[in-house]
Amino acid sequence: MNASRNPQPPAANDPSAAYDGPPDYRVIGRHAVFPETSHDEIERINFLAQMNRHLASRVVPGVKAAYDSRVVPEFEARHGRPMADRHEARRALLEDPAFQTWSALRRMTMEQRQQAGRWSALRQRERLNAIAADLTDGDPRLSLDPSLPIPRYVSAVDHHCMPGSYHTEYFPGDAVNGANYDHAGFVTTGGLLGKYSDGGGHAVVKWVKRNLPDFRPQKILEIGGTVGHSSLPLAQAFPEADMTIVDLGAPVLRYGLARAKSLGVDNIRFVQASGEDLSMYPDASFDWIQTTMFLHELSTKALRAIFAETRRLLKPGGIVLHVEQPQYAPEMPLFEQAMRDWDAFYNNEPFWSRMHEMDLDAEMVAAGFERDKLIHGGVTGVVDRELFPDAEEDDTEDYGRKAAWHVIGAVA
Ligand SMILES: C[S@@+](CC[C@H](N)C(=O)[O-])C[C@H]1O[C@@H](n2cnc3c(N)ncnc32)[C@H](O)[C@@H]1O
Repeated sequence: MNASRNPQPPAANDPSAAYDGPPDYRVIGRHAVFPETSHDEIERINFLAQMNRHLASRVVPGVKAAYDSRVVPEFEARHGRPMADRHEARRALLEDPAFQTWSALRRMTMEQRQQAGRWSALRQRERLNAIAADLTDGDPRLSLDPSLPIPRYVSAVDHHCMPGSYHTEYFPGDAVNGANYDHAGFVTTGGLLGKYSDGGGHAVVKWVKRNLPDFRPQKILEIGGTVGHSSLPLAQAFPEADMTIVDLGAPVLRYGLARAKSLGVDNIRFVQASGEDLSMYPDASFDWIQTTMFLHELSTKALRAIFAETRRLLKPGGIVLHVEQPQYAPEMPLFEQAMRDWDAFYNNEPFWSRMHEMDLDAEMVAAGFERDKLIHGGVTGVVDRELFPDAEEDDTEDYGRKAAWHVIGAVA
């Protein structure tokens, strides 16, 4: 969210205001292992997606107005100085009823999103797991390791209120957490990542083709690829390449291979492993290593280990790209920083706050990359014309209608 870029909300109940909410959930792209949804399940998801959009576009501007008119003046009157950092801004906001209302409603939509998504997936778990098994059993492109230790930064956290996070298996062959993650993510994205939730991956491909036109990767690795939302566009854009997704979670990997095959993408393998230790791959194994919205769910130690592994695994001239929400920087207003920090404190993303203040350039250099070979950029989620036929094509960071991320990377 970037509240400062949101336009002023239209007057309440203005009949002339154009509808700017999310599209109907029924536009979502389906495949063999995608859960079926009843009328009531669909309307629950539609309600939550529209509630999210309402909170971001209509309620957040009210929180900003309260911050400017009440929170900041009260803080300065009490302390005799301006706020020093985002922590002071967040703690001051906590006292304000506008923030309290927004925060409670946002948490409620997150919890209800998980309930809604899990219920649909769980009630048809035998059918979904059987389809996943049909598509993946005996396929060498799925490699699971039941003895893999799940690190505490994953096992101790139900990320964004998702029970069991990505990795929990409730019975052998389980793919339910993958199904929930895939089909009800619409509540959060509102379709902005496209009907296959792949707008981030298409954006990365566009960035690579524009900035590295001669790059022809043969071996691509995505660490923390989950069900492959952002990875499939890479495999599709470079069909001659051999792509590997590694992830800790068996349910998302099982679901991911079934989904990829059903969508006709055959050049990806799904491997259960930790990005911290990829010693099964020799040095210089990959031309391109990608992570997408991944770093914020690690720990400092894990991030450092993963950066070091990426350095070791890259071929000379190969690239690593990490796509993430923007880092906190002095030019980002404290209000925006405090609102972005909400995920760390109230949405079960404990590393979010720390990760977004880290000096990632210094971390990359410490991992062995050369400072003058670091890459900095930005990508905007590629708009899905089927969902938003009237959207303008541009590369600006328009947080109101599209998703925008930062890219930090390096050439080895
Ligand atoms: C926020 S999701 C990433 C989203 C995904 N890249 C996408 O674009 O849809 C984080 C993923 O990282 C995985 N993960 C966390 N720590 C990991 C590690 N050390 N090694 C591999 N995967 C990890 C989690 O299981 C989860 O699937």
